[in-house]
Amino acid sequence: VDNLVTSARGEGVGHASASRRAEPWPNDPYPAGSGVVERYKSLRAFLAGEISAESIVATLKDSGLRGMGGAGFPTGQKWGLVAAAQPGTVKYAICNADESEPGTFKDRQILADQPHLVLEGLLLGMAVVGAEEGWVFIRHEYGPEEHVLREEIAALREAGVIGADACGSGKRLQLDIFVSPGGYILGEETALLECMEGHRGEPRNKPPFPGNYGLHGRPTLINSVETFADVPVILQRGAEWWAEQGVGESVGWKFFAVSGHVQNPGVYCVPMGTTVRELIDTAGGVLDGAEVGAVQPGGASSNFIGPDQLDLQLDFGTLAKAGTMLGSGALVVLAEGTDLLAASTNVLRFFRNESCGKCVPCRVGSTKAHTLLRGVLDSGSTLDEAQRGKILQLEEAMRKTSICGLGQVALGPVVSVLGLGKGGAAARPQPKPEGSKEQPGR
Ligand code: NAI
Ligand code: SF4
Repeated sequence: VDNLVTSARGEGVGHASASRRAEPWPNDPYPAGSGVVERYKSLRAFLAGEISAESIVATLKDSGLRGMGGAGFPTGQKWGLVAAAQPGTVKYAICNADESEPGTFKDRQILADQPHLVLEGLLLGMAVVGAEEGWVFIRHEYGPEEHVLREEIAALREAGVIGADACGSGKRLQLDIFVSPGGYILGEETALLECMEGHRGEPRNKPPFPGNYGLHGRPTLINSVETFADVPVILQRGAEWWAEQGVGESVGWKFFAVSGHVQNPGVYCVPMGTTVRELIDTAGGVLDGAEVGAVQPGGASSNFIGPDQLDLQLDFGTLAKAGTMLGSGALVVLAEGTDLLAASTNVLRFFRNESCGKCVPCRVGSTKAHTLLRGVLDSGSTLDEAQRGKILQLEEAMRKTSICGLGQVALGPVVSVLGLGKGGAAARPQPKPEGSKEQPGR
């Protein structure tokens, strides 16, 4: 995998701005340094009537592209559904750039380096489903990336690619940026819609899905940054090319944010199906040559996997079968000796703080579970059977009764650590022999 993998260093990522890569990423179909005149070829072809909406949807279906926001819904199917929804009505398209999952910063890198692919994908989505207005909903901490997007949109307007008569086609295509007022839950697509409508940012019950009932009740196409960016790549290079980039049955390129106890944290673009071990090696291996203790392969919402599972392929199906998920494209590596119960309780603390409070099980359950676990950690002990039973009960109640992903997964990482640690005992750091080396990051 070494000769295929490519990265951007982690410095600056997650702080002031994503560090810009000097070289183009391997997926980019457009020559380095080209401008809006040379790029946006698929959009121009569509507006010139050279390719149809149906053929774009068919190509996306053939490519096997799935939603990179985390859930992996088939992109071609979603575009087809929104295109077919309520013919003749006003529709909208939104790029969800409210990336806020702890450890997740790959969309930020894509926005910094490939704004042209993100916007071309969004514009193609608008054109295909019949939307005249589209937005990038971006988290407010991504100021430098917002600036990059605004510059690209201004260049598109000046070149006549968007506007009242996009590329002289007679079609109206307008783009704007909506800056999130802040809050993790606004990245949930229906909370995002509520926020854009000026309401309190709380998720709606689904269904109906936004594809049918979205912004102001209109059919709305929502995809993540990476998903939209993949669309022009596939249309320019072909569905077959895309499928060939993966490993085995996994298709395409995948961006990952790698963080935690690794030598070179940063954003990496690797073939889908790369193994957990290969990606850790690509990030320089575990800090100070330590062994892996546990890994979250899909951001803070994903269940931990153990050191015996490092040969799992990073793709939707394999990780789901292993009881975890590809999720938000964030590999968080914890070295051997890390207190996994403390780490997973920290994740739970984040979700407790970010719960919007709409559902009782999520609001009360996350607080109850966190109080219990914090007490155990503070006393320096491990969970007894009764406490373990209580955590499992809370996890089940929250998973089955919360209306959005936050409450459904909040206790998953804790429970996965209990599984790895056989009751919690081994999830705590083991006493070290006299004179042994301190583990990194502890
Ligand atoms: P979901 O499964 O409800 O939906 C996924 C997408 O498919 C949505 O756009 C939804 O509208 C669409 N969809 C699903 N079924 C449909 C149907 N029958 N008809 C039409 N459209 C349909 O998942 P959700 O809650 O939107 O996303 C969960 C994922 O988000 C998790 O896997 C998690 O990893 C990820 N996530 C990412 C974060 C980030 O910062 N990138 C933060 C938190 C979670
Ligand atoms: Fe809000 Fe939690 Fe319910 Fe989601 S599950 S709507 S975050 S209370």
